Amino acid sequence: MATAQPARRDADAATVALRSLSLTAFRSWRRVTLELGPEPVVLTGANGAGKTNLLEAVSCLAPGRGLRGARLQDLARRGSDAPWAVSAEVATPDGPVRVGTGADPGGEGERRVARIGGETVRGPAALAEVFSMVWLTPGMDGLFRDAAPARRKVFDRLVCAHDPLHARRVGAYERAMRERARLLKEGRREPAWLSALEETMAETGVAVAAARRDLADRLAPILADGLDPFPGAALALDGRVETWIATMPAVDAEQRFRERLEASRPRDAETGGAGDGPHRMDLAVVHLPSGMTADLCSTGQQKTLVIALLLAAARLEARRRPPVLLLDDVVAHLDRRHRAALFAALLDLGLQAWMTGADDGPFDGLDGRARFFRVADGEARRRDRPAGPA
Ligand SMILES: Nc1ncnc2c1ncn2[C@@H]1O[C@H](COP(=O)(O)OP(=O)(O)OP(=O)(O)O)[C@@H](O)[C@H]1O
Ligand SMILES: [Mg+2]
Repeated sequence: MATAQPARRDADAATVALRSLSLTAFRSWRRVTLELGPEPVVLTGANGAGKTNLLEAVSCLAPGRGLRGARLQDLARRGSDAPWAVSAEVATPDGPVRVGTGADPGGEGERRVARIGGETVRGPAALAEVFSMVWLTPGMDGLFRDAAPARRKVFDRLVCAHDPLHARRVGAYERAMRERARLLKEGRREPAWLSALEETMAETGVAVAAARRDLADRLAPILADGLDPFPGAALALDGRVETWIATMPAVDAEQRFRERLEASRPRDAETGGAGDGPHRMDLAVVHLPSGMTADLCSTGQQKTLVIALLLAAARLEARRRPPVLLLDDVVAHLDRRHRAALFAALLDLGLQAWMTGADDGPFDGLDGRARFFRVADGEARRRDRPAGPA
C-alpha cells in the first residue's frame, strides 16, 4: 500500500522551492525572514499567531488576490505607514530567481507591483511564468456546495500550474468581456468596436477553454486511480465552449462563439455581462468509490476529494514544473491514515508544501523530513525535529 512505503524523493523530479522568504509590514508581521531548504515547511503556533498570514504572503507571489481573496489595502499592517512587501528566492529548474511583490508606493487603490530578478514587471501575471502555486484552505471546505465561481477558480489555478500563460489569457478575456458589457450597457451602437471585442473574447475564450480541456484530459487517468486512501475521482467540465472544443477544431469553436456573442447582444445589454462563455464554466466531480457526485459526499470525503485533485495535478507536473503547495490547516481534518498518505505523497513527489497547524502532534510523521517553525510573538523560530525511530 502506498502509505506504508518509506518516503523517497523521486530522482527525476524537478525542484521548485522557496529558499528564503521575507515579509515587511504584511498583516500581523512587522518583519520576518525565513531561510528554507527544498523540503516541506511546517508552521505551528497558537490561534492568531500569524500562520495563515505567512501563507497568504507566499500566495501573493502568484497572480490574483492570494489565498484569502483579500483586498490589497487589507494586506498592509494596521497602524504602520510602511508599504507591505513580500520577496523570495525561488529555486527553479532554470536556476534561482528572486521574486517580489508589494504595495505600489505611487499607485492608488487596487494595484500592486511585482518584480522578477530585480526588474519591475508589467503585472503580477508574469509571476506565474516563474513558478506556480496551488493552495487549499479551510475556506474551500464547502467547495462542492459553493457556487460555480469557487470551483472554476480552483481549477483555473491548476491550469495555471500546467500552462503559465493561462492567467494572462483569462485576464485578457475578462477585460474584453467587461468592456463589451460597458458598451452594451451604455447603449452605444458601435458595431465595429463590439465586433473587435467579441473577436478577442472568442480567441482568448477558446484558448482558455482549450487549456482547461487539455488539463482535464491529462488529469483524468491519474485522478481515476486515486492515491490510496485518497479516492479516485472523475472530473467533467461543464461549459459550452469547453464542450465544443472537444468536438470541433478550435477555429470552428471560435467562429461559433463569435456568432453567439453577436446574436446575444440585445439580451446581454439587458442582463449585463455575457450570457455564455468560459466565464460560466463549472466543474462536476464524482467520488468514484461511491459513485456519488461530490456535493453529496460527507465533509471529510469532500476534503479528501479536493486533496486527491491537488495531488493528481502535482503528480502530473512533478517532472516538469512542480507547484509549491500551500495547505492551510489541512491536517486538522484528516485522520492518521490520510495524513500519513499525504505526507508520503508530498515527500515522494519532492514538493515544497507549506503546512500550518495549531499543534505539533499531527506532523510527527514529518520529523527530520520537513523544516519546522514555531510561530509566536511576531516571530517564526526554526526548531529541529530529528527523525524518530523508523
Ligand atoms: N492588516 C492587518 N494588520 C495587522 N494584523 C492583522 C491584519 N490582518 C489580520 N491581522 C491579525 O493577524 C493575526 C493572525 O492571523 P492569522 O490568520 O495568520 O492567524 P493563524 O495563526 O493562522 O491563526 P489560526 O490558528 O486561528 O488559524 C490575527 O489576530 C488578525 O487579527
Ligand atoms: Mg490560520
